[in-house]
Amino acid sequence: MNINETLKWASKQLVESCERPTFEAELLLAYHLKKDRTYLHAFDNNEVIQPEAFKRLVSRRATHEPYEYIVGEASFYDIELNVEAGVLIPRPETEILIDLVAEIIEKENITHIAEVGVGSGAISVVLARKFSKLTIIATDICDTPIKVATSNFKKYALDDRVEIRKSNILDEVNEALELVVSNPPYIADDFELEKNVADYEPKEALFGGSVGDELLKQIVLDVKERNIKYLACEMGYDQKEPMTQFFNKVGVKSYKFYKDLAGFDRGFVVEFT
Ligand SMILES: C[S@@+](CC[C@H](N)C(=O)[O-])C[C@H]1O[C@@H](n2cnc3c(N)ncnc32)[C@H](O)[C@@H]1O
Repeated sequence: MNINETLKWASKQLVESCERPTFEAELLLAYHLKKDRTYLHAFDNNEVIQPEAFKRLVSRRATHEPYEYIVGEASFYDIELNVEAGVLIPRPETEILIDLVAEIIEKENITHIAEVGVGSGAISVVLARKFSKLTIIATDICDTPIKVATSNFKKYALDDRVEIRKSNILDEVNEALELVVSNPPYIADDFELEKNVADYEPKEALFGGSVGDELLKQIVLDVKERNIKYLACEMGYDQKEPMTQFFNKVGVKSYKFYKDLAGFDRGFVVEFT
């Protein structure tokens, strides 16, 4: 089959699993051929090499496997991160958290921070690239994120300033810190997620407990107990009210919530001291 015929075939296979089947068919074929999408249109009469291997890619996507896991890479902020099954695919809304943290780092001249729940390394890589004097200790409880984040810190030559530690929250981090950032698991255990997320993305990255905000609250308590000045976290759209009550109960200097681009409550910044 030539490129044109192959794209038509692949788009049909992807109709049920993808919102934009033609676009995704093009992305997958471009990946398979190691070319960009413009090549597909310029040379649409060329035969597709190794068509069976391409069909296997399409059938993975047709069963809802995320595109990023199939190609092993995710675009985020201004970077391309290695990703694989077992690591959360970084989401665009997390870029807002990064921008808020960047404002604080700049304003306060902060040089020592930690990230809880590093995943692919998305947050730490972007922040370390923005601030050349910043050092980061990044924690995670799972082995695959630790492996993948390490590869991303190396990819961007940040491994001298970003250290990764296997740790529950900050249990293994005793260094003095000025700020903690986290996009922790915050979804309730019984929440029904879309198939592509529920079947493929790691449970440890998604579910925060039977209510959902348990880990968020524990992070707040741990950061407060350590006398760290700032905490910035992503959270669920319905967690503003319970987190407000929690901040008032534990006592913090100030807190503010932020929204995502769709207008949903999406996270907070707390100042403790
Ligand atoms: C929602 S993902 C965020 C990944 C990445 N920071 C991002 O924004 O794309 C949450 C991460 O927290 C990790 N995690 C879950 N519980 C944790 C805990 N108690 N302490 C540290 N990390 C934890 C998960 O393994 C997962 O990698």
